[in-house]
This record gives sequence, C-alpha cells and structure tokens, in this order.
Amino acid sequence: MLPRARRTVRPSSLYTLRLADDEDEEPPPPWAAPIGIANSIKGLLEAMRGERFERKVTVLGSTGSIGTQTLDIVRERPGNFSVVGLAATGRNLDLLVEQTREFRPQVVALRDASRVDAFRDALQRANVPEPAHIGGGDAAVVECARHTDAQVVVTGLVGCAGLLPTVAAIEAGKDIALANKETLIAGGPVIVPLVHKHHVWMTPADSEHSAIFQCLQGAPDDALRRITLTASGGAFRDWDVSRLSQVTAADALQHPNWNMGPKITCDSATLMNKGLEVIEAHYLFGADYDDIEVVVHPQSIVHSAVELQDTSVLAQLGWPDMRLPLLYAMSWPHRLRMESMRSLNWVEVGSLTFRAPDRRKYPCLDLAYAAGRRGGTMPAVLNAANEVAVEMFLKESLPFLGIPRVIELVMSRHDTSGWTTEPSLDDIVSADKWARTMASEVAASQHIQA
Ligand SMILES: NC(=O)c1ccc[n+]([C@@H]2O[C@H](COP(=O)([O-])OP(=O)(O)OC[C@H]3O[C@@H](n4cnc5c(N)ncnc54)[C@H](OP(=O)(O)O)[C@@H]3O)[C@@H](O)[C@H]2O)c1
Repeated sequence: MLPRARRTVRPSSLYTLRLADDEDEEPPPPWAAPIGIANSIKGLLEAMRGERFERKVTVLGSTGSIGTQTLDIVRERPGNFSVVGLAATGRNLDLLVEQTREFRPQVVALRDASRVDAFRDALQRANVPEPAHIGGGDAAVVECARHTDAQVVVTGLVGCAGLLPTVAAIEAGKDIALANKETLIAGGPVIVPLVHKHHVWMTPADSEHSAIFQCLQGAPDDALRRITLTASGGAFRDWDVSRLSQVTAADALQHPNWNMGPKITCDSATLMNKGLEVIEAHYLFGADYDDIEVVVHPQSIVHSAVELQDTSVLAQLGWPDMRLPLLYAMSWPHRLRMESMRSLNWVEVGSLTFRAPDRRKYPCLDLAYAAGRRGGTMPAVLNAANEVAVEMFLKESLPFLGIPRVIELVMSRHDTSGWTTEPSLDDIVSADKWARTMASEVAASQHIQA
C-alpha cells in the first residue's frame, strides 16, 4: 500500500511538485520504483507540463555502452537535458576528452587516479577548457555522483562499484536512472528505504524493468499479479548444453540482439543477467519471487510483461535499442520524440516466439532465485562471486562452466549465523568483500578448473 499522498514543494529536486510519503502515518512501500496510485497522479500532473522541462544529468560510466547512449539522448534533446558530471575509469581518455569538449561538464571523475594528469594534458592538447573539478579515485566518483547541481544521476558503471556512488547520490537528493543493476541487487535492503527517506525517484533503465515500469503506469497499488521477464537467451541459446565446456570468451561475447559492455554480455550468455534482473524486479516493484517468471524470447521485441489481478497481460514492445528505456528513465513521466529512433514495424518483426529457459543449460538462473529468496546479504554474495568469476572467464583463467560452480560454492560458504534480512550498508560491503576473496580462492582450485 502506498501512503496517503500529500504535496510538497522541493525546488532543488527534479520536479517542483511532489506527492511524497507521509512518514508519520504509514511506512513507505517495499519497492523502489515510482509506481502506484500516488505516483501515477504525480506523474500525470508533471506530464501536463508538456515537453518543457529541463534536467541536469550526471553520467556515471560515461564512456561505456550505457553512458554513450545516454549522451546520444542529451545530444538529441539539448532543450531537455544538460550534463553536470561525467565519471569513468579513465581507460578511454580520448573519448572522455571528446565528451568534455562537447558537453562541458562541471565535474569529471576518473576512478583511476593515476590517469588524472594524463587527462589534464590531453585536454590541454585538444584545446578543451578544464572542467571546474577534476578528481581521481573512488572518492572522486562518489563526489561526482553527489555534485550539487545535478538532478538526475544515470548509473552506467559496472558492478557493485556503483553501490557507494548511488547511495551518495540518493542521500544528496538526486533522482536515479538505474542501469547499474548490481547496485540494487547487492544493496536492495538499504537502497529501497533510502529512496523513500530522501524522496527521490528511482526509474529503471534496464529494458525489461522499463517495460514493467511502463506497463504499471496508472495501475492501482495492489494490481500486480505476476511479472514475466523476457530473455534473449544470450550467445548460447541455440547451442546444445554438451558444447558449453568448450566455449571461449570470444564466443560468449557474441550477443545475438544487443550491443553491450563485456560483463553484461557474458551475464546474458550464462543467463545470470536474467537472474540478477529477477532480484532487481523484486526490489523495484515489490513482487514475490514466486510471481516473477522468465521466458526466452529470441527476437527481443517484447521487453517484458505484467499480468494484473484480472489476468489482463500488458507488455511493452520495441526494437532492441537501449536508448528507449534510457530516455524514459531520464524523462519519466514525459514521452519525448527522438527522430533517430525507428518505429516498430510489425510486418518486419513477423513472428514473436517464447519458450521456457533450459535450467540445465543455465544454472545461474536458479542460483539467483535462491539468493533472492534467501535475501539479506546473499544477493550481494551471489553478485560479487559472479563478478569475480566473469572477470576470470573473460581473462581466460576460468572455464565457462566454472562460473556457476564458483558462485554456488561461495554462496554455500556464506556465514549466515546472526542472519538478518535487513543488513546495514556495512554488512553488505563486508559480504561483497568476503565473497570476492572467497570466489578468487575457490576459482583457483583444481575441482573448479577441471
Ligand atoms: N549496455 C547495456 O545495454 C545495458 C543494458 C542494461 C543494463 N546495463 C547495465 O548498465 C551497467 C553498465 O553496463 P555497460 O554495458 O554500459 O558497461 P560498459 O560498456 O563496460 O561501460 C562501463 C562504464 O563504466 C565505467 N566504469 C567502470 N567501473 C567504474 C568505476 N568503478 N568508477 C567509474 N566508472 C567506472 C567505464 O569506464 P572506462 O570506459 O573508462 O573503463 C565505462 O564508462 C551495468 O551494470 C549493466 O548491467 C547495461
């Protein structure tokens, strides 16, 4: 149940009109996304302003797949969006310099502090004025995430490295366009209450969760009966399970439908990406794990669906183009036209097919359900073990089938004595750290390598 709505005016926030939770009267809902009747009313009121809105955006992970597509949107809709901050590791300095030239951010953070001098030199050589703030290291990324002038932070960095910057952004009152799912998966028990405490919006940028979010607009608070997450099936969807012991990193990086960064592409090949999305859907929409199903949909046209209490099924369709969910996450509840985005052609699509995932081929899916159902710090442990295993697989120091083995072993060794379903941020950070060490150890063992 969403709390009774009341109006508050927060000039520094994304919207001037808010219907916020009344903390004195009812507890906040156990989900992070702005769904439910109170938010729908608020969304309608905001949408009535038309396309005349301006949002200042910080992009974490600006040089990656999500980051560059976010900046494509800013480039095409300069009347609606401008850039305040950019953050990246600093690996791709040329692109970061080019982004600084084009978008004139106030702050640029390089996670790798040793690249800051080279960045300054590269700016000078390219005749690009220095931003007011340039920082290096993890702390600089956190500072960038909470920079005063930004209203929306697009989280396009990879892995649990997004956790502390996202927490900082929420505490500073920024709305979050969430691409970095690992943060919510590991930190859900802390992030969901924090979103409500600071009255910020967390809008999903993952295509599946954007689809669900779109389908739930205007739906009553208790209308959701079931979520169906669609999965492309990843690089090996048409491979027999017997061939998986031979696959290489290059094989796993051949995604049939989406062009994404290496980590998520590998997660798609193991279907861990879908498993992570099951947990993400739980925290975003408050659905029970029994009410979240996964179907393989090779065409990636139906991005996901919801079933409502009366068994009506609503789905969202579109070409596989991440700019659409990103645009909606950044502009919700508005609907902006992008000339560069192609209308769906039903005849060209032809047929849409669906099948059950092969659980033998994709053990990571069941591991994710198990971690989600266990709750507490287990999703953080699952996620950290997966990050380590995937990194090792991509560096060719772990076989493909070793990925689920590492995760399962690490989960089985997670100490659940003194277990709480409501861990603190420190608990989550410690569990993440422990799981990384344990994953590196077990991955090196002969049993896993065999
Ligand atoms: N790509 C997609 O279509 C897609 C779809 C749905 C969800 N997602 C999610 O979005 C996130 C980003 O994915 P991606 O595919 O865009 O990854 P990517 O292409 O590998 O890009 C990652 C970006 O994050 C930066 N980065 C990595 N670690 C960082 C850190 N600790 N501090 C600051 N910057 C850091 C990288 O900088 P450098 O370039 O300097 O290394 C790069 O700009 C992931 O959580 C993924 O699951 C992605």
